[in-house]
Amino acid sequence: MSSPRRKIVAGNWKMNLDRSQARSLAAAVAARSSEAAAAELVLCPPALYLDPVLEAVAHSPVSVGGQNMHDKASGAFTGEIAPPMLIDLGCRYVILGHSERRTLFGETDTVVNAKARAALAAGLTPIVCVGETLQEREAGRTGDVVTAQVRGSLAGLSAAEIGRLVIAYEPVWAIGTGKVATPEQAQEVHALIRRVLGTLASPEVAAKVRIQYGGSVKPDNAAELAAQPDIDGALVGGASLKADDFLGIARAFGG
Ligand code: 13P
Repeated sequence: MSSPRRKIVAGNWKMNLDRSQARSLAAAVAARSSEAAAAELVLCPPALYLDPVLEAVAHSPVSVGGQNMHDKASGAFTGEIAPPMLIDLGCRYVILGHSERRTLFGETDTVVNAKARAALAAGLTPIVCVGETLQEREAGRTGDVVTAQVRGSLAGLSAAEIGRLVIAYEPVWAIGTGKVATPEQAQEVHALIRRVLGTLASPEVAAKVRIQYGGSVKPDNAAELAAQPDIDGALVGGASLKADDFLGIARAFGG
């Protein structure tokens, strides 16, 4: 049975590249997006380069997203970016609660929840990240940790709102380490997340929500991840900085 969910492959460039590199990487992905036409492709550059990246993909099906945002629409928040500003530029997505935001910048589920509400209110599609640390996995707590993150991050959202977002399962121990979760490990957590979404919204809504895997996804491990029934795409860090690698992953999901 083929999945009703269109696969979504997003590149999280993190704090990398300069303006001209950002522009040419985006242009290369846009020019070759038909290689993975069945999947939706999203680029999430550093905020300062959103504009040139949006220009570079303007005549292609590639979407653009922010890596973070504030939960208020405007105000005295020096250095922050408001959700309507992302919309104003032409972004459709925003990554929220990435493990680097959670661990290095103190973002809790409560913070992520406020941002998710604000993103949805502004008309953005949040990509809400969850995932356990190595210590939590080794203590057998993966299920509890991920369930609590999903419940906390999505608290109070309506079923319709839950139906509009994307979840990224990124085990912290797999991010930037070269250690990818096995397809079975990832599938188990994705299926759990879908069950939790079913209790928060409904099984019908949960069946529509796209759940990406992230953590050392590369062209040579993408196909086995893509073959899992509940893995609906990838959130790619390091490998998204090279057009060939990003498109290689994209083809595994949407070629
Ligand atoms: P890597 O693909 O570099 O492991 O990063 C994953 C990630 O954090 C994407 O958001």
